[in-house]
Amino acid sequence: MADAKKLFIKTYGCQMNVYDSERMAEAMGGQGYVVTDRAEDADMVLLNTCHIREKASEKLYSDLGRLRPLKRKNPDMKIGVAGCVAQAEGAEIIRRMPMVDLVVGPQSYHRLPDMVQGKGPAVDTDFPPEDKFDHLPQRKALRGPTAFLTVQEGCDKFCAFCVVPYTRGAEVSRAPQRLLTEARDLVERGVREITLLGQNVNAYHGDDWTLARLMRELARIDGLERIRYTTSHPNDMDDALIALHGEEPKVMPYLHLPVQSGSDRILKAMNRKHTADAYVRLIERIRAARPDILLSSDFIVAFPGETEADHRATVDLIREVGYGAAFTFKYSARPGTPAAEKPELPGEVGDARLQEVRDLIIDQQRATQEAMVGREVGVLYEKPGRWAGQMVGKSDHLHAVHVTDPAAKVGDLVRVRITESTANSLAGVRV
Ligand code: 5AD
Ligand code: SF4
Repeated sequence: MADAKKLFIKTYGCQMNVYDSERMAEAMGGQGYVVTDRAEDADMVLLNTCHIREKASEKLYSDLGRLRPLKRKNPDMKIGVAGCVAQAEGAEIIRRMPMVDLVVGPQSYHRLPDMVQGKGPAVDTDFPPEDKFDHLPQRKALRGPTAFLTVQEGCDKFCAFCVVPYTRGAEVSRAPQRLLTEARDLVERGVREITLLGQNVNAYHGDDWTLARLMRELARIDGLERIRYTTSHPNDMDDALIALHGEEPKVMPYLHLPVQSGSDRILKAMNRKHTADAYVRLIERIRAARPDILLSSDFIVAFPGETEADHRATVDLIREVGYGAAFTFKYSARPGTPAAEKPELPGEVGDARLQEVRDLIIDQQRATQEAMVGREVGVLYEKPGRWAGQMVGKSDHLHAVHVTDPAAKVGDLVRVRITESTANSLAGVRV
């Protein structure tokens, strides 16, 4: 066997990129590359980028700047840019940074091994007719007992602020039988929890199956104990999916359901196609199906035209719903999106609103965590903890939990009574 070459991958952005990075690593494995966690030793560096906010793409260019001395020292080192910035900027990246050898978009990365060998173009941002998943090697379980499974990609919603419909393209769902096969295969390799991924995962419609139907079938796989899914759009939460939360114990009581704003005026300007009230009613129905479900959301503050009253409506909605977690963002204009045409609010206004929303979310997150103390939850051990005999896993509600459990091993799914809540995690004892 030829000497193993080393591949360093840096992943920015969402879980879909984490999944794509794993699949690219597997594809490059066929070329004799093994993954390293040190860019200094690498024969190839791959930056899997995110374009969702301005800061994310700036980070790419500053990271490339930092790679320059490495490339100077080792001119044979290949540098590739993948992901959504690659899709959006294409050849412009090489023009701006000639040290970059390859640019590959999220729909064409199965062609990466050929590109590295000089058998393809240096820039590939096609939406190719072939399905990349047909051309990628079989999955390995790389992350222990949990795995991601991309079931749907792209988005047709065109929220006014968002680049995803342009970078990831139109909604495409993978065929359900393929997904069931991939899931069974992951379970055979020791996976016990699968998170279904999609930019609009609950719009899944592979072979006319709904996401609820796909999850029902997945739940029949022996050895698969937990199913999660992200990210969902409120308008695609159908009755069957809501009901499934109450009926199928393998579906975990955690739902990321972004609302972005609590103001109807802003929701309309964002092209979200639902009101704040419709969202709150939807949450009520979901909670009726699964009372202990923990909710999270994304919020954008300082969207163009957002008044103080609009902002108060967002704060009120957060108070009304009560979240277990949430991501909060200051609006950032993305070239090519409709919102980018509109005048922006002063930076300080956005900073103050962001701070207020963040503080509120942190309070709710802490309160939700503290409310777990005394309760018994399932915990799937993902890795050993820092102390001898300690394990770290995730609860059903996606809280990190530390447990002293010397006889246990990674992959065990155990019952734990929560005894303590600290800043970012819980502690408990096995029951
Ligand atoms: N500015 C700020 N936040 C954004 N998001 C998407 N586009 C933008 C933007 N232009 C946020 C949304 C989305 C999350 C993934 O990123 O809240 O749900
Ligand atoms: Fe972007 Fe909206 Fe689609 Fe989510 S639903 S990916 S925010 S356009």
